[in-house]
Amino acid sequence: MLAAFVSTPAPKDPLSVLEVADRPAPEAPDGWTTITVKAASLNHHDLFSLRGVGLPAERMPMILGCDAAGLDPDGNEVVVHAVIASPDWQGDETLDPKRSLLSEVHQGALAEQVVVPKRNVLPKPAELSFAEAACLPTAWLTAYRMLFVKSGLRPGQTVLVQGASGGVATALIVLGRTAGLRVWVTGRSEEKRAAALALGADQAFETGARLPARVDGVMETVGEATWSHSIKSLKPGGVLVTSGATTGFNPGAELNRVFFTQLSVIGSTMGTRGELESLVELCRVTGIRPQIDVELPLARAREGFERMLEGRTAGKIVFTV
Ligand SMILES: NC(=O)c1ccc[n+]([C@@H]2O[C@H](COP(=O)([O-])OP(=O)(O)OC[C@H]3O[C@@H](n4cnc5c(N)ncnc54)[C@H](OP(=O)(O)O)[C@@H]3O)[C@@H](O)[C@H]2O)c1
Repeated sequence: MLAAFVSTPAPKDPLSVLEVADRPAPEAPDGWTTITVKAASLNHHDLFSLRGVGLPAERMPMILGCDAAGLDPDGNEVVVHAVIASPDWQGDETLDPKRSLLSEVHQGALAEQVVVPKRNVLPKPAELSFAEAACLPTAWLTAYRMLFVKSGLRPGQTVLVQGASGGVATALIVLGRTAGLRVWVTGRSEEKRAAALALGADQAFETGARLPARVDGVMETVGEATWSHSIKSLKPGGVLVTSGATTGFNPGAELNRVFFTQLSVIGSTMGTRGELESLVELCRVTGIRPQIDVELPLARAREGFERMLEGRTAGKIVFTV
């Protein structure tokens, strides 16, 4: 079957090791099921995998991709929860120390078929296309948990989203706006800032710009490049939720500001199956949909990876199968 995969890591030149070619179809062990993939979306995680971050060479070759929507063996339309917990794990799957994401231990979703534990399969409502549903399990679920499970922000408060055009950033804008938050955004180009305003952000600023006022919360996925700005942008008692570090894992800690202004810094990762169910329902009930930048056939996956590596994103990049 056709798949996008990696056989050897390349920390400095990730696209040099991306292969889009035939791989053996996966076999479902007991308790698992085979999903025929109709659409799969790209995440920054896939670029990290090509670099070998979180994916050591001994686990390769590995099919990339966390997110899939498709058909189960009975022909039902489904979406896949990408967090694979231990078989006997109870409760919040993201807290299982042995959890992995699809494509970290088990073969991923950028393929014609993917095998997953049966409990990771959710019904896809007919109102959502396969492409839309394929955007939800990683970027959108992460944004949902950051805003609605971790931040404690209330409607009417102001949240700053660092980054305007990425998968998680666009999800944060749409979800924040839907929840009645005032959403401020930073973006690296005029075009990206304009797109964020069109998506529902109230104001958009250049990366690192001084804001007109301090905010109640900041949503961070950028890491080193924006961390200091994030901390300085918060009101006393404000909350920073971090789920990513695209530009580096070692920002200045700004400890003096954290304790002196009594900030909360909260980590967040993916979301539970139950949260994914709620997110799907939120999309169904409110009519909000993931912002899709481009849909490409899986055979042209390299073009999507190039766009993301070069920062030429405007929402989610989806591969159709
Ligand atoms: N912990 C989790 O469960 C989890 C889940 C999902 C994602 N993540 C992480 O979150 C991050 C974003 O993922 P994604 O899939 O949304 O990636 P993406 O689509 O490639 O988006 C990258 C975002 O980062 C911003 N950015 C990149 N370099 C920047 C810089 N030098 N200065 C300012 N902004 C910069 C971009 O801002 P512009 O819009 O201005 O270009 C864009 O909004 C990744 O690090 C990913 O690993 C973590």
